[in-house]
Amino acid sequence: MNTVTTVRELRAAVAQARAEGKDIGLVPTMGNLHAGHIALVEKAAQRTGFVVASIFVNPLQFGANEDLASYPRTLAADQEKLIDAGCDLLFAPTVDEMYPHGMQGQTLVHVSGVSEGLCGASRPGHFDGVATVVTKLFQMVQPDLAIFGQKDFQQLAVIRTLVRDLNMPIQILGLPTVRADDGLALSSRNGYLNDEQRASAPALYRELQALAAQLRDGRRDYPALVASTHEALVAAGFRPDYLEIRQADSLRPAVAEDQHLVIAAAAFMGSTRLIDNIELDLA
Ligand code: PAJ
Repeated sequence: MNTVTTVRELRAAVAQARAEGKDIGLVPTMGNLHAGHIALVEKAAQRTGFVVASIFVNPLQFGANEDLASYPRTLAADQEKLIDAGCDLLFAPTVDEMYPHGMQGQTLVHVSGVSEGLCGASRPGHFDGVATVVTKLFQMVQPDLAIFGQKDFQQLAVIRTLVRDLNMPIQILGLPTVRADDGLALSSRNGYLNDEQRASAPALYRELQALAAQLRDGRRDYPALVASTHEALVAAGFRPDYLEIRQADSLRPAVAEDQHLVIAAAAFMGSTRLIDNIELDLA
């Protein structure tokens, strides 16, 4: 696996793979790779002839009071994991390489609708930053297939919408959330949790599962269900940011007739913000 840091080297390596008749898979990440990221890379290696992973902690998607500076950067360990997973090329650019003209005045890609509410409400500008950097990566690599995790459910919806609306000839694949044995969704941010917080954190998924079970049992009194789950999260030591039941494709608030739902939540454990979701097909 080669690691390149410039767009010029990236384009040259991808062009060579194309000339060899290979189709191109892309897995964008911010690094500090865990088994959730690696599952995406392995799937890309099964599905395409040349796998590009990117590692870039994108300042444009972090809010002023968020963890940009402390976000874990573990390039050497990440490279080892990518080699094992069958990655062919790692693109690990600097901020200057990605934003040579600065981020102020940078063209922004704004996806309306699905980016509103949920994480979009508590992280203003976040999805503009994600949509912009993903569009740039798509333009740089021009992949046939790009793979994302369902753990970031709203992000996946934003990317699917952006590819559809801007006629990008890229297949988007979403893969299920990879979890620790106790159910906690793997996340680079889990590393911020102390032992006690880590022990409490699986309650987030557990409470979402309990809520999902009630929906499967036919309950449709969403406000009451959400209120009791909210209470259970507080009792487990969380400070919920949002907890909502939405229609899974449009991400509009769910109505009783909806069959395809997503329960989405973000909650603070101490100062660490964790997100999780469960997609449900009741048909
Ligand atoms: P990052 O948080 O590093 O995640 C990279 C990819 O891994 C995303 O598609 C995310 O959904 C997926 N992922 C993270 N945890 C996962 C888990 N437990 N199971 C399955 N997939 C998981 O998401 C981003 O980076 C950035 O916003 C990015 C898309 C790279 C744009 O900067």
